[in-house]
Amino acid sequence: MTATAPMRRRSGAGLRKARRTDETASPAVEADRGMWRIRSLTPARQVLRARSSTTQAGFTAEKIPRGLFRAHPILISDGPAHDRQRREVARFFAPAVIADRYGEHIAASAQAIVDEAAATGRCRLDEAALHFTVDVTSQVVGLTESDTDDMAARLTAFFRQPPVDLAAEDWGRTRRQWAQAAVNGIVPLISFFTHDVFPAIRAHRRRHRSDVISHLLDSGHSTGDILVECLTYGTAGMVTTREFIAMACWHLLDNEELQREYRAAEQPRRLSILEEIIRLEPVVGHLYRRATSPIDISDGRGDTIIPAGDLIDICVRETNIDTDRFGTDAEALCPNRNESAPAAGLSFSDGAHSCPGQSLALYETDALLHRLLSCGPRLLTKPTVGWDDLIEGYRIRNLDLGFHVSARPARTPGSSGPARRSHP
Ligand code: HEM
Repeated sequence: MTATAPMRRRSGAGLRKARRTDETASPAVEADRGMWRIRSLTPARQVLRARSSTTQAGFTAEKIPRGLFRAHPILISDGPAHDRQRREVARFFAPAVIADRYGEHIAASAQAIVDEAAATGRCRLDEAALHFTVDVTSQVVGLTESDTDDMAARLTAFFRQPPVDLAAEDWGRTRRQWAQAAVNGIVPLISFFTHDVFPAIRAHRRRHRSDVISHLLDSGHSTGDILVECLTYGTAGMVTTREFIAMACWHLLDNEELQREYRAAEQPRRLSILEEIIRLEPVVGHLYRRATSPIDISDGRGDTIIPAGDLIDICVRETNIDTDRFGTDAEALCPNRNESAPAAGLSFSDGAHSCPGQSLALYETDALLHRLLSCGPRLLTKPTVGWDDLIEGYRIRNLDLGFHVSARPARTPGSSGPARRSHP
């Protein structure tokens, strides 16, 4: 296929699968009583890159008391200390480090899922992806002293929260819902600390390792600080990647031509196909910032100043289909774009808080999907699409794949992983 050849599509294949009825693509920049909504890529990047004029306002960051921590958690801290924190952990997430240090473990973990699917003839991918991503993230972070299946259950418990709307008065929650949110957060947090984080810290104190926990101990983080960082990496690394694996698989199964190309391609090309899928289907739907000093933005049609104190909502689902930057077919899956815009749009954010786990997420997604798709699975039922309030993104469930039981997975040398427990 040439770089400009159009994708042949079955009806609906190549178009967005996660759709919301309340979304609107215009206006590109909208202001309403101290709340800005940005739907165009250029001004959105200007806000995300205005590192000294904004603070993190997403993921309920503004309600988290800063005094609780000796060192601020990476997700909610800002300024020079945050920049330093990011520089220090970047070495654990560099593409070459991922392949060299974790490549074998990731391959074995992916292969174990494929082996089980080939043996039983079935795989509920959203469940398998959850355990896979927790397994991978726990290696990188150093949460290696507990059972990953149990840790997955503890981490998902955090997301059972009452609805939240950051644009509404008191975030649209009643006092009762705030109390419920505190209980729903604290109970799994204690359990996560007792079973996963504390044993890992103890083991790292006995033996230093090259992972995030050892780094945090070296740089003087307290036990409480490490707990919150582990929670951030655990949830950020697990929930988002899990959803993306399911979504990417669904697209590839629905688009035979693209799947053929993906299966036959070398890894760099496969990763660019995955980037195009995540551009179209961003897992994190909205990013929020608080302006701490005025920010100049321009969408090419006019200039505007966002005043200090205002809340800014970057509507990632809209910025990623901005026709000015991605072309008139921005709403279609087309992995041969030549535009200068970032291939994944703002799906991994931009600027001071951009996702450090981007390369790891794409690498592990590819490691699992490439092996799985080479067994020729078929989609048994149409998966369900729900929505998560905290990351304001889609939730894919019941993605059931069927395999010919004789299907032999494409093994990579030395990649036989441990037999996995089956999940309900
Ligand atoms: C498909 C998978 C993933 C997606 C879509 C994703 C998306 C994002 C986004 C949008 C942000 C930025 C939030 C903001 O700007 O306000 C972010 C931050 C972050 N992500 Fe990811 N992420 C993924 C996987 C991972 C993985 C695998 C890890 C690590 C194991 C990770 C660790 C983090 C951390 C630590 C932050 C906070 C960075 C900071 O605030 O400085 N993410 N992620």
